[in-house]
Amino acid sequence: MRIFWQESMCLGVPALDDDHRRLVVLLDQVCLALQGRNLPGAGRAVEEFIDALGLHFAHEERLIDQFGGDADERHRDGHAETLGLVERLREAIIDAADHALAITLASDLITQWITRLFHHDSDLVRHLKAPSSAGEPATPAAQPAERPMTRPRIS
Ligand SMILES: [Fe+2]
Ligand SMILES: [Fe+2]
Repeated sequence: MRIFWQESMCLGVPALDDDHRRLVVLLDQVCLALQGRNLPGAGRAVEEFIDALGLHFAHEERLIDQFGGDADERHRDGHAETLGLVERLREAIIDAADHALAITLASDLITQWITRLFHHDSDLVRHLKAPSSAGEPATPAAQPAERPMTRPRIS
């Protein structure tokens, strides 16, 4: 089980896309270490992923405060649920050294995170791009997406 960044994962807001690209790389480092049965390496990678994920969620939640729409609470709840799953993964790797459980949780995390990328995050981006009364996007960083969204490859 691995995860690779693809341009189809871009939502069209560079600051968020940069965060997501880095998170995919960090999560794949966890997967790669697990694939090699390298639990110490997976432990270091998952700690780095958790730090980056926390910063990213804080970043998104500031945007939700400013521009969010109807689904704000579901988006925040989704973040909390994902952080809970990542914490279980961290415990499986570092505290329990349970390789099989860690593989299962990492796989669940990839599925959950990708699903939310294309639902909650995509919905937030729609709000960021919604024209203001002046006819401009809600935020200058919100440029129109130039490509249709397609599901990324997960192996
Ligand atoms: Fe999000
Ligand atoms: Fe996100």
